[in-house]
Amino acid sequence: MESAPAVIVAIDGPSGTGKSSTSKAVAAQLGLSYLDTGAQYRAITWWMVTNGIDVDDPSEIAAVAGKPDIVSGTDPAGPTITVDGVDVAGPIRTQEVTAKVSAVSAVPEVRARITELQRSIAAAAEKGIVVEGRDIGTTVLPDADLKIFLTASPEARAARRSGELKNADVHATREALIKRDAADSNRKTSPLAKADDAVEVDTTDLTLPQVIECVVTLVEEKRAAK
Ligand code: DC
Repeated sequence: MESAPAVIVAIDGPSGTGKSSTSKAVAAQLGLSYLDTGAQYRAITWWMVTNGIDVDDPSEIAAVAGKPDIVSGTDPAGPTITVDGVDVAGPIRTQEVTAKVSAVSAVPEVRARITELQRSIAAAAEKGIVVEGRDIGTTVLPDADLKIFLTASPEARAARRSGELKNADVHATREALIKRDAADSNRKTSPLAKADDAVEVDTTDLTLPQVIECVVTLVEEKRAAK
């Protein structure tokens, strides 16, 4: 049997829409690689914090943006992330990193560096890849075979994030989410945005298996048409 052609899938949207769970499951089901680009921005933010860089000073961030060596493992069954050889999968999820990641990821030198890394990872994925983030369909991989933009109401997103964070206050989570989305959507360089040719999927009233099935079907249709 001929092997399926490589397929590049871009999945964008704000936090709490089920992007990571969906992207990982779709990649696993279809035998594709998986890249969590938010983890890369979190990793460079972790490095800045750990090295005492003032994250309120874009010029200080820009001057050292090329220093950390960030490596992403793209197996959807066990994605990994290291900085200068250190496993940072846990430390990049702390509240401190979450609170600072929007400021760091708004710096153009950081975006240029991470975007280049993302493109080289996508190009090396022989069977294809699912890449999730905020600007994948618009900026990183504008020629992706399929672009999905996931949305959900702020209430649904806050409830999901609070569930993930175990007993977090839903109201506080909702406020923090809205603040981070506004920062990510309003920055000058490649903001969170839906590409004109992306398929929008509102996940507010869908279960995770329903969202996965919807995206898998869309990928299979694209593959069949290649
Ligand atoms: O998906 P996440 O919540 O782990 O992403 C963390 C932050 O990284 C998010 O607030 C904005 C930034 N980000 C970005 O600017 N561009 C991307 N492609 C992915 C994430």
